[in-house]
Parts: sequence; C-alpha cells; structure tokens
Amino acid sequence: MEIFIDTAKVEEIENAMKWGILDGVTTNPTKIAETGKKFLEVVKEICEIVDGPISVEVVNLNAEQMIEEAKRLSNLHKNIVVKIPLISEGIKAVKVLSKEGIKTNVTLNFSPVQAFLAAKVNATYISPFVGRLDDVGWNGMELVKQIKTIYQNYNYKTKIIVAAVRNPLHVLDAALTGADVCTMTFEIMEKLFKHPLTDKGLEMFLKDWQKVPK
Ligand code: E4P
Repeated sequence: MEIFIDTAKVEEIENAMKWGILDGVTTNPTKIAETGKKFLEVVKEICEIVDGPISVEVVNLNAEQMIEEAKRLSNLHKNIVVKIPLISEGIKAVKVLSKEGIKTNVTLNFSPVQAFLAAKVNATYISPFVGRLDDVGWNGMELVKQIKTIYQNYNYKTKIIVAAVRNPLHVLDAALTGADVCTMTFEIMEKLFKHPLTDKGLEMFLKDWQKVPK
C-alpha cells in the first residue's frame, strides 16, 4: 500500500520524506489555507521536494471550467493529480480529462455508487473519506470494502485512496482491505512507528548492554 501525506505544509512533507516511506501528497483548499501562503507558491514548493503523485483540488463547479482549471494545474508539473469533487459536473469533467491523459483524484466520496461512477469515467484515484463517515456514525471502512468489491468485480483500474484517516487503526484496516493508497496527516504517520513494548524493550536492551564486559 502506498502512503501519501495529507497536508500542504512543506516542513511536514520534508520530515516525512526523511523516513523513506512517503509515496505522494494530497492537499485540499483547507490544507492550502492552513499554510497561510499563496496557492501557486505552495504547489510549486511541494513539487520541488516530492517525486510522486501530488493531488491539488479544483475550485470550479462547472464541468467546462473544471476541465480548464484541471489543464492549468496539470501543466504546472508532471506529478500533479487533479482533485475533482464527486458531483455530476465533476464526473463529466473526469470523463474528458481521462481521455486527455490528465490524472484525476475524485474526492469527497461517501457512497459506493459514487465510487462506481468515478471508475466508469476512468478516474485515476477515488478518495473515500472514511473518518468523516465515522464522525457521523457510519462505517467508513465498510465503504472502502464495498468499493474494493465493485472494482474487483469489473476489473476497474481506478485506485482507492483511503482518506480522512483519523488513527493508525484506519491505516491497518486500509491495508487489510487492500486499498491502493492511504493518505494521512503527519501526526498519524508518526504514530505508526510507535509501540510501548518497542520503547520498553529498547530501554531494557540498552540497560543490559551496560552489564556486558567491554
Ligand atoms: C483527502 O484527500 C483529504 O484531503 C482529507 O483526507 C480530508 O480529511 P479531513 O476530514 O481530515 O479534513
């Protein structure tokens, strides 16, 4: 499973890169706003440090305008993946963009039939927001399992990005379900390394090492 970082903060991306486990980046207008920087400035900075898919979202809501915006964004760098919201105009736009070889990430996916539509128009990625479903009392991972089944039934090539991840258990479930990608914040990525028994065991080994005659 590929690991993407869900942030637009360059310092977080640089730190995650150092661990050697990072495959790509996902952003959205909220994450760009959190940086306090200009949109193009942030996107260019990210493209300079990560050699992997970088999702950047359109803000137009009409298919023609989305297509135009998507083309502009994808021209910025070869690694740009254009995020398109899962609305009818978005699906219309993805159909055109797929034919033109522009990579897309269909975002704000909350139902399996929505994900089915994204696959029908050959979206590169679909992003089910598992944590946001859990937040309102639905089972986010159940959605991912259903998408996986639909895509396998018809051999759709659209890749599943498990998004809006809230904890390491979501990452585990994403991997067990066979998701292609899991995108997560820097904080969650950091938590993946941790286990109290690792810390305890290490402390004990280092203590015992002091007893070894040198
Ligand atoms: C995915 O691409 C989105 O950026 C993201 O996962 C949104 O998650 P949130 O619910 O934590 O904002």
